[in-house]
Amino acid sequence: MADATAELTALEARALEELKACADESALRAWSSRYLGEKGQLKLAFGRMKEIPPAEKKAFGQEFNRVKTSLESAYEQAVAADKERKLLASLEANPLDVTLPGRPVPAGGLHVATKVMREIYAIFADMGFQVFRSREVEDDETNFELLNMPPHHPARDMWDTFHTTTPGVLLRTHTSPGQIHVMRQFAPNPVRAVLPGMCYRHEAVSTRSEIQFEQVEGLAIGPDVTMADLKGTITAFARRLFGADRQVRIRSSYFPFTEPSIEVDIDWPKDDPNADRLTKGTGWLEIMGAGMVHPTVLKNGGYDPDKVSGFAFGMGPQRITMLKYAIDDIRQFWKNDLRFLGQF
Ligand code: DAH
Repeated sequence: MADATAELTALEARALEELKACADESALRAWSSRYLGEKGQLKLAFGRMKEIPPAEKKAFGQEFNRVKTSLESAYEQAVAADKERKLLASLEANPLDVTLPGRPVPAGGLHVATKVMREIYAIFADMGFQVFRSREVEDDETNFELLNMPPHHPARDMWDTFHTTTPGVLLRTHTSPGQIHVMRQFAPNPVRAVLPGMCYRHEAVSTRSEIQFEQVEGLAIGPDVTMADLKGTITAFARRLFGADRQVRIRSSYFPFTEPSIEVDIDWPKDDPNADRLTKGTGWLEIMGAGMVHPTVLKNGGYDPDKVSGFAFGMGPQRITMLKYAIDDIRQFWKNDLRFLGQF
């Protein structure tokens, strides 16, 4: 029955013709159920298979498959074309300017002081120093007396501070009292620690001094700790922070809590145009105070000065940051000016 096969071909032509006329999605859906659906014409046509003589079944089957594939792919294309048409129409109706710059998402960042502190911790951590935090509100005894500065000691004049309304309780003037806390926690065992934190001094604010600033104190105690260890540690630190070819110079000095006491300078790169101003023409720049822990301080911390010795140092990371980044005013650090903070 060649008729049935010819009808399939005619069905295809009709269907494709109608498909072309479908103008929107709902017309396309209706077309799909009319021809491809469960009760659609294609299924119906297939039902006629049983009427077909065995000799023609194959030809009918082949034509059926061809028509089915042809209608299905024509339908897919028509759906895709319809989507494309809609997209273009909506783009035309609501034009989108993809060249318009996006709204910036402000990303936060670490404060430059935090960055430098972390750099300092990392350097000392590599040399076996742990970070030890201690309080910013201290008593007079720990801030001064136990560090070998009895009441009326002239060295106290260097460190005028803020006193609370409770007698003997003050804001620490340096991180050195932290030494007492570390020692009392670790004695009689050896210890290697850096003590970072905020310090306060009652003084006139200027480009070079603030009433609050950070310090990093260092302390190493154990049998046979010597000045050579101190020099080696400081030199390694300075070279990692300021560059491998830095020279380090030590000068003798005085601090009540160290004996002997030194001050440490580094040479400043001569090709830096600021070198002369920074070093006042000397080529050298002071970066910290240091020394061998005074026996009285060791004793106050719970150590036996006949059995152990130790070195200590103290530096101001703000000053170091100013050198590293050519910052000319210390007041910038705590001013919260984003134009300054955003640069780092
Ligand atoms: N505490 C001193 C200051 O604020 C700095 C200092 C000097 C700390 C010598 C030390 C040291 O540990 O050994 O000026």
